[in-house]
Order: sequence, then structure tokens, then C-alpha cells
Amino acid sequence: MNATHAFAGLGATPFPPDIQDHLAGLNFEAAGAEKRKQEAESPVLELSGISLSFGGVAALSDVDLSVRRGEIRSIIGPNGAGKSSLINVISGVYRPDRGEVQIAGKRYAQVPTQKLARLGLARTFQNLALFKGLSVLDNVVSGRAHTFRSTFLGQIAGLGRSRREETDARDRASRVLEFLHLSDLSDRLAGTLPYGLQKRVELARALVAEPDLLLLDEPMAGMTATEKDEMAGFVSGVRDQYGTTVVLIEHDIGVVMGLSDRIAVLDYGRKIADGTPDEIQRDQRVIDAYLGVAAENEDGEGI
Ligand SMILES: Nc1ncnc2c1ncn2[C@@H]1O[C@H](COP(=O)(O)OP(=O)(O)OP(=O)(O)O)[C@@H](O)[C@H]1O
Ligand SMILES: [Mg+2]
Repeated sequence: MNATHAFAGLGATPFPPDIQDHLAGLNFEAAGAEKRKQEAESPVLELSGISLSFGGVAALSDVDLSVRRGEIRSIIGPNGAGKSSLINVISGVYRPDRGEVQIAGKRYAQVPTQKLARLGLARTFQNLALFKGLSVLDNVVSGRAHTFRSTFLGQIAGLGRSRREETDARDRASRVLEFLHLSDLSDRLAGTLPYGLQKRVELARALVAEPDLLLLDEPMAGMTATEKDEMAGFVSGVRDQYGTTVVLIEHDIGVVMGLSDRIAVLDYGRKIADGTPDEIQRDQRVIDAYLGVAAENEDGEGI
């Protein structure tokens, strides 16, 4: 349907001929499709010129990073390379000394960390950050706290909106637990679970916020090979089934190469390479700085 037909359908008085010509020249459908295409292709996240130091230590130096919608974007590098610092900048824990973060096209000198969920971001931490004395289900429900609008008094009374919100949060949490094969453990205290399962509960808590962009800081650290395989399956499942964009920090090179669409490599706070797994594997700077050391690690667990 072109513009003139659209207006004619409303039975409006015909426009003067010059305006009709102008409207006929506008192709709204094509313009809409083009806009949707641009939105799909525009980066979900874009970091430009990020620098951050702690005292004399340059944790990040002039780092650029672009993350496309729906990709699994990994960040690798030796210990102390600045990977967690980068996630802490993206999630607003740190304000960079220089540079800016763009999330869905909006620019920030420091991302408002208290509004992270509303910006469509969720994260997990390198070190477990669960409420160990709460059940698995309650831990996951806590990932929806940002959606609760009921008042404190309403919550005490347990009435109306607060009860509906809680039921909704529990339903969503149960579905995520099912997706991550954790349903049988939902009543267990989180602190009593083996480490690998606690990491999975942390992923559940991040996922229940239904983020557009999920930031995972070493979700497989300390896991057995089987647990790692399972976790890798869940990470790709999150992307494939929910369309979630994933930024992944991981030391296990085998896992990273298998999962990632693109990989950025940090070394001493600088980005030394960025590309597809194939490109990264062949990059001499990466081999020197990182992969050579990882290859020396006989059991293939990375460094
Ligand atoms: N809060 C902080 N205070 C002081 N120095 C910090 C802080 N956070 C990070 N650093 C320093 O910044 C550098 C980068 O640290 P970061 O934790 O980002 O590295 P990483 O790549 O995540 O390492 P790892 O693989 O060991 O987790 C290191 O030298 C670290 O000691
Ligand atoms: Mg780290």
C-alpha cells in the first residue's frame, strides 16, 4: 500500500496534485523495512575509547567493542587483562576515566547500574553472588525485583498488586528453572548446592530478568568438564531460543572457540585482536600473548 492509497482509504479530501505527487514518491513500507533492518543491524552495545586505571595500574586502555544483536561475543585474555573491568564498566559498576558506552543507541559516561535491568541488561559475577540462605526459587525470583511496583505496605499486607507480582515472578522463575534443568532443586537452599549448580542458579537469576543483553563473567569457572559442556549448551540455548545477545568471559579456549560468533582479546588492558574464532586462532599476537600459554596447559583447561 502506498501513501496515497492509505490516505484515500480514509475518504479524506484529495490533496493538491503537488502534495499527491510527493506522497506517492514516499514508500512507507520500504522505509519501515529499512528502519527495522537498521535496528537489527545496529549494535546492541558499543564501547568506544574506554580507559580505566586503578592508581598506577591501567586496567583498560582505549578499548573499543561492538556487540551485534543476537551474537555470542566472547572476551578472552590472561589473568589481569581487564576482562572483568570491562564488564564492570558495561554494567556501571565502574565509571571509565575516558570513553563512552552506548546501549541500544543511548550514550553513557557511566551506565546507571541501578537501572541495569530496565536497560535490558543482566549479569553474573566471577565470584558467586547468591543469597546462600535462600531457596533456589527465591534467589531466582530476586532477579525480578526491578519489576515490583507494589508499595512496602502492600507487600506487608500481601494483597492485590504485590500478590499478583509475586505470582508472576514465581511463574517466570519456575519456567527458567525448568529451562536450566533445575526444577527439582527449587526448594533447596542455594548455599547447599555444589558449586557448578550454584553457577547455574546465578545464570537463572540473570535470565529471569529477560534481558536483551546478558553479561557472563566466567560462568564455567571451577566446573568439571561435564558441567562445562552443560553450561555451554545452556548459553547457546539462551541465544537460540530467546534471541538474547551474550557477552561471555571464559578462560577455556575450547569452549570459547565452539560457542562464539566473535572474540575480542585483551592483553594488559589493550584489545590486541578482534574477529571470528578462525581469525583469532590464526592471529600471531594472540598466539604469542595467550594461546601459546594456553596450549602449554596439557589438560586443555585454559589458563
Ligand atoms: N577494584 C580494583 N582496585 C584495584 N585494582 C583493580 C580493581 N579491579 C581490577 N583491578 C586491576 O585491574 C587489572 C585488571 O583486572 P580484571 O579483574 O579486570 O582482570 P581480568 O581479566 O578479569 O582477570 P581474571 O582473568 O583474573 O579474572 C588487574 O591488574 C587488577 O589487579
Ligand atoms: Mg576477571
